[in-house]
Amino acid sequence: MSIKAAITGVNGFLPEDKLTNSDLEKIVETNDEWIFSRTGIRERRILKGENLGTSYMAAEAVKGLLKKTNTKPEEIDLLIVATVTPDYFFPSTANLVCTQVGIPSIGSFDILAACSGFIYALSTGAQFIESGRYKKVVVVGADKMSSIVDFTDRTTCVLFGDGAGAVLLEPNEDGLGLIDFRMHSDGTGENHLIMKGGGSKYPASHETIDNRLHYIRQEGQSVFKFAVTKMADTAAEIMESNELTGDDVAWLVPHQANKRIIDATANRMGIGFDKVMMNIEKYGNTTAATIPLCLFDYESQLKKGDNLILAAFGGGFTWGSAYIKWAY
Ligand code: UT7
Repeated sequence: MSIKAAITGVNGFLPEDKLTNSDLEKIVETNDEWIFSRTGIRERRILKGENLGTSYMAAEAVKGLLKKTNTKPEEIDLLIVATVTPDYFFPSTANLVCTQVGIPSIGSFDILAACSGFIYALSTGAQFIESGRYKKVVVVGADKMSSIVDFTDRTTCVLFGDGAGAVLLEPNEDGLGLIDFRMHSDGTGENHLIMKGGGSKYPASHETIDNRLHYIRQEGQSVFKFAVTKMADTAAEIMESNELTGDDVAWLVPHQANKRIIDATANRMGIGFDKVMMNIEKYGNTTAATIPLCLFDYESQLKKGDNLILAAFGGGFTWGSAYIKWAY
């Protein structure tokens, strides 16, 4: 049997500080009823502390992962971080994480695919295992969204939170692990969801700061329309090509942007809500971290051989899905 890349451990890190809907009522004109009924969010975590960036949360998640899986830092062959909130443009957050964790001189890099980042990074990391090149690959999804959220914009500041999740990938010859994946993108998404300032097109200047270009901007309704269709499409397409029915799927692991999008995806897949991993209520949208944080929260309920469908949609636009047979 061919080598598959199996997830053999998962860990999450969430900052302690909570920002509840009632806290937000004091900052912008909003209310708990609006936020919860439109999104499913009650509270989110915020990383506080001077000069702590995404790498801090990612490194904490990885340190816990190595401890849990009894893995020494020097055994890791490759580390990938999916993020839209890197500590810096360069060095990459993955480089910084390796140093903070004490993983010596391996290849490490970031992947930018917004809310689909974890699926992109997982699919990429898996290739190095499947080819036989590497034995232990760490894949992280981490975002400090509070660093790019405009806390005067009620249409976005209620949606996002901070967090990190990490998985260990190892070879499996019993048919367990990543069975299939899909990755998609459409750059016209820049018109609807973007952080415009600070890149090579609009480098940081007084003007970009005055125009608040260093914050996330989203046309919620347009993104919703794309998200609700594409996330369901990609989940359905991977099920069809692998001849899976709703009954065959043990869990949908969806990106946590909006409970209404998640419900629509589950409906399209023909699976009940009891099979849907959901933690949006507690953490909001943590971008690349939502899917590994779901796996972390539901780890104790997973059984060896369970069929999992991961599905995400996000900025770019990017969207994608993965079919995993759980390995432990
Ligand atoms: O993860 C990356 C991909 N992102 C997504 O998938 C997000 C997709 N979009 C969404 O989830 C939804 O569009 C939102 C949750 C962002 C917004 O929900 P919506 O039902 O599309 O609301 P809306 O933008 O149509 O706004 C409805 C009303 C507006 O007022 P008027 O014009 O009807 O008077 C908004 O100004 O709600 C108002 N509004 C708010 N009211 C209270 C917008 N934000 C808020 C708020 N509190 N925080």
